[in-house]
Amino acid sequence: MSERARLTADDVLSRPETFPNEQAESKLSRLVGLDDHIKALERDLRLIFDPAIAQDWSVQQYGEIITAVELLDEAVPLIVFEGDVGTGKTALAETIGQRIASDGGYGVHMVKMSTRVRGTGYVGEMGTLLAKSFEHVGALYKKKGEPVLFVIDEADSVLTSRASEQHHHEDKSGVNTILQHLDELKTSGSQVAVLAITNRVGVLDPAVLRRATAVFEFRRPNRDQRRALLNGLFGSALSDADMRLLVDESERESNGEMSLSYSDLTLRFAVPAVRRAVWLDERLDAEALAATLRELVPSRAISNT
Ligand SMILES: Nc1ncnc2c1ncn2[C@@H]1O[C@H](COP(=O)(O)OP(=O)(O)OP(=O)(O)O)[C@@H](O)[C@H]1O
Ligand SMILES: [Mg+2]
Repeated sequence: MSERARLTADDVLSRPETFPNEQAESKLSRLVGLDDHIKALERDLRLIFDPAIAQDWSVQQYGEIITAVELLDEAVPLIVFEGDVGTGKTALAETIGQRIASDGGYGVHMVKMSTRVRGTGYVGEMGTLLAKSFEHVGALYKKKGEPVLFVIDEADSVLTSRASEQHHHEDKSGVNTILQHLDELKTSGSQVAVLAITNRVGVLDPAVLRRATAVFEFRRPNRDQRRALLNGLFGSALSDADMRLLVDESERESNGEMSLSYSDLTLRFAVPAVRRAVWLDERLDAEALAATLRELVPSRAISNT
């Protein structure tokens, strides 16, 4: 018998975060270029969590519940976020609950599943952990009586196509387990929605993708979005001319290079720059910032397949 410890749902799920909360509000407000996603996501999640909204609309407009509205009940509450690295997929999934909670006027809970769900190598372990995780999330909903967002980040590591050559038997059973639990969610009457996140949407199992009623694509920022991001970070510390300089230096496409991602600008540029200034106990220097930005190499995109 191996020494490896068997994992439980507690080992692979984060502690639930409850919205509304102030930290989430400020994190959400710092996100740039995602307003359309936020609006559409709020609509979809609120309609998933509260089917009466669609029914009331139908009765008001047509005097009855039309068939197309009944169809909403048959949809699996699965939404996919896909796109390039460092573009806000995880950040938005972790904070959208705030918008739903504050606009909906009810509490929302968010639980994240970690890639530890792949397990430690026991046969059938991933399937068991996935099943336990879904049960745990269902129990959380029952306990709280309020909507739960179940975030499966790096979903490509558990939901890879069963047809894929590198696919192990283990992974296949994982995908099957998830499909079964996703299908159960639509009939269980529970207010649970699943957000699956990936930067390799091409490898997701087609049966998983087919169930998603919304797929949101995330991209690197364009010039206006870079300006908005940099302004948000440094606008109160630098002059307008200095800000223009920074935005110019953040330009990459013109010389055929890939553009900088949001996280290149926050985590790889702004964070080190602020640390340096704090440590020297000096104000931020626009010239030095511009020089650093000029040297910043965009993070590589991950192959989609
Ligand atoms: N749209 C955005 N607006 C402002 N900051 C952003 C945005 N997107 C990403 N960031 C910054 O980049 C950091 C990393 O973003 P995040 O973890 O959401 O990326 P991701 O899309 O999940 O990337 P990966 O595919 O590598 O997991 C965030 O903590 C934030 O600082
Ligand atoms: Mg991420």
